[in-house]
Amino acid sequence: MRILIIFLCVFITHCENAMAPSKLPFLYTTNGDDFVVIAHRGASAYAPENTHSAFKLALNMQAEMIELDLLLSKDGVPVVIHEDNLERTTGIVGLVSNYTLDELRNFDTGSWFGEEFIQEPFPTLEEVLAYSKGKIAVNIEIKHESVTDSLEGGIVEKALELVKNVEMEDEVIFSSFDYRVMDHLNRLAPDISKALLYEEIQSNGLSPSQLVDLYKVDAFNCSYKELSQAWIDELNENKIPFFVYTINDEQLMEKVIHSGAKGIFTDKPDMLIKVVENL
Ligand code: G3P
Ligand code: MG
Repeated sequence: MRILIIFLCVFITHCENAMAPSKLPFLYTTNGDDFVVIAHRGASAYAPENTHSAFKLALNMQAEMIELDLLLSKDGVPVVIHEDNLERTTGIVGLVSNYTLDELRNFDTGSWFGEEFIQEPFPTLEEVLAYSKGKIAVNIEIKHESVTDSLEGGIVEKALELVKNVEMEDEVIFSSFDYRVMDHLNRLAPDISKALLYEEIQSNGLSPSQLVDLYKVDAFNCSYKELSQAWIDELNENKIPFFVYTINDEQLMEKVIHSGAKGIFTDKPDMLIKVVENL
């Protein structure tokens, strides 16, 4: 009898999880359809990635969401940059985590891309949220270099605080390759939208829908290189929204849209919008 009750509890919990509707951020621009055009690091084919110029260009291009990468500065400020190693995008030999925000502000994040971006300032999450609010949804990708086991005072707590300060809880989706972020979000803000970025080593052979259930996330994100037909079938059968990165090729965009993906990350949101319009 006891075993039967335990089985029923597990079964009911599983059903509740399986049936829980996905919470995705509100979209201000839809380009007339249900598919989400996500500007990867901003419109990063045309302006330096993860800069105000790239994000504002994505807004002008009518992208429906911008994606940014988040790390903590030495003094604990959430700053927007892809790698902890500063060299590729600033020319500085060193780590983001070794500089305070004031020090990072001295680094030029644009001239590696083109001379016209020489004045491009080092962006913070707070600044990007300020001009995105009411205009475009934001995918905040938490980079693992800043994640710790402890949730207090960590990057997730700090990023959430900034989102709450400007009341953008319904306009953002968090994501990470570091699955600890999902646990931290489930404890700090269980209602906020979140997506798991597939990482094989942490997944212990679990399938996409098993991972979505286990980490209680709203969406599954993966590279187009990982997206097998078996995954596509399982995600569609379970009605799990999935987002695929990073595609800058028209044929591949079409193929992935036809697979049932809910959205694509691209450096060329203008190209993706045209592909969606011409389907
Ligand atoms: O979130 C999608 C994509 O940005 C993940 O990979 O390395 O470009 O941050 P990465
Ligand atoms: Mg990213």
